[in-house]
Amino acid sequence: MTGGSGLPAFFRLERFAELDSTNEECKRRAAAGAPAGTLIWAEAQSAGRGRRGRRWVSVPGNLYMSLLLRPDRGAAAGAQLGFAAALAIGETIAPLLPKQVELAYKWPNDVLLDSRKVSGILLESQAVGEGRLDWLVVGIGVNVASFPEGSEYPATSLRSVGAAAIAVEALLEAVASRFLFWYEGWLAAGFTALREAWLARARGLGEPVRVRLQAGEATGRFAGLDREGALLLEDGAGRRRIAAGDVFPAAR
Ligand code: BTN
Repeated sequence: MTGGSGLPAFFRLERFAELDSTNEECKRRAAAGAPAGTLIWAEAQSAGRGRRGRRWVSVPGNLYMSLLLRPDRGAAAGAQLGFAAALAIGETIAPLLPKQVELAYKWPNDVLLDSRKVSGILLESQAVGEGRLDWLVVGIGVNVASFPEGSEYPATSLRSVGAAAIAVEALLEAVASRFLFWYEGWLAAGFTALREAWLARARGLGEPVRVRLQAGEATGRFAGLDREGALLLEDGAGRRRIAAGDVFPAAR
């Protein structure tokens, strides 16, 4: 641990009252040569971003953090760290939840409580020669005290499901520490353990789902993850591998 903080020595935490987006700040740091472990935390964001260009409502009271990594891996492998982030969040909040609240992971990177989204993860990266990563930013948002109404996928917060209270800083420290555990395991041994832990709490496994793609959509049975982390979708015609998309229950 670093002196006086609950963070392992890997991290260099910088805290802001407000930023445009912690991912943007982390990317600026990456471009300026900041080291892996740089951890940006803002109490609010004026231009918080979600996946696929969506807005991430970022009022005070919730967690907004971004971590800079520089793993010597390809960009496709780097995407597997979204699963590490989801697990880190899930493992941190699980002990805070009332017994009847169900925690599940929704592909690729969402954490759900009773089928509503409590957390989102935004990975951004830049590759250099031969597709190796120069940097990867893992952006994490957790709805602690509030959540936006009317979002496309229903949202929730720790507070609204009756979770035990946790300070945002304590949540950040626990999520970062747990992420480091999974990150080091991934560096040493690859994706297998992450994949299994994630699948153990995957939402909709074996069930019919609808996946919105960049262009169009696909439906089928959610058959699992491949060895890279892509979603496997089965229908009468066979098995299809999906690398990016948004999953909804098939009935929607
Ligand atoms: C999603 O589910 O669409 C991803 C949401 C990611 C939000 C976090 S909040 C901290 C970091 N900074 C951002 O602008 N976005 C991510």
